[in-house]
Amino acid sequence: MEIIVSANEARKSSPIPPPDMKGAHVAGMEAYRSLVAEAEADYSGYWSRLARQFVSWKSDFTVGLDDSQAPFFKWFADGMLNVSYNCLDRQVERGLGGKTALVFEADDGQVTRIDYRELLARTCRLANALKARGVSKGDRVVIYMSMSIEGIVAMQACARIGATHSVVFGGFSAQSLRDRIQDAGAVMVVTADEQLRGGKRLPLKAIVDEAIALGGCETVRDVLVYRRTGSDIAWDASRDRWLHEETDGQPQNCEPEWVGAEHPLFILYTSGSTGKPKGVQHSSGGYLLHAALTTQWTFDLRPDDVFWSTADIGWITGHTYIAYGPLALGATQVVFEGVPTYPDAGRFWKMIQDHRVTVFYTAPTAIRSLIKASEGNEQVHPQRYDLASLRILGTVGEPINPAAWEWFHRHVGGGRCPIVDTFWQTETGGHMITPLPGATPLVPGSCTLPFPGIAAAVVDETGAELPDGQGGILVVRKPWPSMIRTIWGDPERFRSSYYPPELGGSYLAGDGAIRDPATGYFTITGRIDDVLNVSGHRMGTMEIESALVSCTDLVAEAAVVGRPDETTGEAICAFVVLKRARPSGDEARQIANELRNWVAKEIGPIAKPKDIRFGDNLPKTRSGKIMRRLLRSVARGEGIAQDTSTLENPAILEQLAQSN
Ligand code: PRX
Repeated sequence: MEIIVSANEARKSSPIPPPDMKGAHVAGMEAYRSLVAEAEADYSGYWSRLARQFVSWKSDFTVGLDDSQAPFFKWFADGMLNVSYNCLDRQVERGLGGKTALVFEADDGQVTRIDYRELLARTCRLANALKARGVSKGDRVVIYMSMSIEGIVAMQACARIGATHSVVFGGFSAQSLRDRIQDAGAVMVVTADEQLRGGKRLPLKAIVDEAIALGGCETVRDVLVYRRTGSDIAWDASRDRWLHEETDGQPQNCEPEWVGAEHPLFILYTSGSTGKPKGVQHSSGGYLLHAALTTQWTFDLRPDDVFWSTADIGWITGHTYIAYGPLALGATQVVFEGVPTYPDAGRFWKMIQDHRVTVFYTAPTAIRSLIKASEGNEQVHPQRYDLASLRILGTVGEPINPAAWEWFHRHVGGGRCPIVDTFWQTETGGHMITPLPGATPLVPGSCTLPFPGIAAAVVDETGAELPDGQGGILVVRKPWPSMIRTIWGDPERFRSSYYPPELGGSYLAGDGAIRDPATGYFTITGRIDDVLNVSGHRMGTMEIESALVSCTDLVAEAAVVGRPDETTGEAICAFVVLKRARPSGDEARQIANELRNWVAKEIGPIAKPKDIRFGDNLPKTRSGKIMRRLLRSVARGEGIAQDTSTLENPAILEQLAQSN
């Protein structure tokens, strides 16, 4: 994978010292270093101390880290807890029942506030309804919902009864949803009639129907439907139930199901290097610890903060930094149904102003697109809004280029708010490398230093540590509490993907990284495998290739690569050989559109290739291997300076280069 943010670019600027933050949770580099030293001196003891501080246990654990079955690590395994109790009941018991938990702003701007007492009551009613339908501990429930209070309640209700949820992003197609329902063996799907985004109504329930009709979802007994828009939808009385009818009349108390710390709280599917998405399985105790701990330290969260993460619950950020972390701390947070550009590109800034948001966490892609929008229209520039409430800014999901960082810092943060550039992954459960706002001097484009206790390192292919200044492979030397436990139903794939033997027991993140010789700061240089990152959405090239070649009437062969894109970070570029003669002009454009829609139907609109190029063939070695390295150069519009001597058909490169 190519370097998107060049390390040199990141290193050019001198570090920006942290603001003088009184009472910060990690106040200053001395405090940071002492936490790092504590973890080094007694690794299991360090995490155990924090686990007792951040998590309320029904019964305490006796062992911190259990590595007897490495790489299937366990944390706090004999401790018993309930995640929903920790997020909700605990707040009410602490006297925070009347504190606003969620400020939900709908697509059309309507605002609903709900306090901890009410959130607990709604969670209990749904938990009772799930139980009444026979859902029990260990069952899997797929949640296919847009951003809503009900979506969060559904996650919490599953946690309450020990059911394992698997949230599927509302933008995924029927086919992708079916694959996930089937792989998880879900007994229930929770969905909505439709979702509202940017003024448009998009179907959800109809896609669930389509997914089930594809076959293979026989485990699903019930589909619970939240009435969001009230539009007419198809109804199968043997299986479909209105969520409000199921919960009405249910008692608002529900004894939490106490589970062991290793009990799977959720499975979340993500892309890997093969065509089949991986069901990343997370634990209850270790996951909750890191969710709460990182929310507090990375965002320096205080009791009177108003936290807003713009992520969707369909992604890991929406799990850790919406559904679990902020609630475990009793925070007030904004939850947004819509999109940043509706009704105009000032929506984020208006919402920060209206809700007096103090901590704002978003994706570099959103920032870049809002920079573009504000360049064309002064009315939507952040300086038109009162953003004085902001204290801390954060980014996640992809590298942030220094220019976007500077703009965010100056125009949104008024030059006074630290930006935490948080590096982590679906598999890591929470932040891994990130500044801490009251401690770490900032360098635009660098995620700076490991979170205290995270043993991140840069190594070569043999696992040997590289000197600072030399780019290599990012690994984590020691297991940490919120790490992936396994790939659902495929422990061997877990072992081979994340713990290849040559790395000698370190976790392979799948990203490249380089450390700055002067500061030791990390800069992430992008994926080293066949995973793309488009607008912070993770996608496997193989998944898109399989979708293309499944269009068997048209496509003979396809290869997918990424190329840098100013707004989305990376763009998907597909090289396609058709079963008919290579098209050109209008015909090529029309077929390209057809294929884009095909991919949207197979995977979801986020996987649509931006460029589709047609060739008579693909560049291959004499042994028949597609040379992606060359395709990447063609996609970037670079000359072919590389060695093409092993290529079977060198002339094809010229053709593909011209076929744009
Ligand atoms: O390549 C890294 C990139 O996103 C990948 C993880 O994607 P996903 O599992 O979907 O989780 C995204 C939200 C945590 C990583 O392997 N990535 C994530 N955060 C950053 C990043 N790259 C650079 N800087 C970041 N802050």
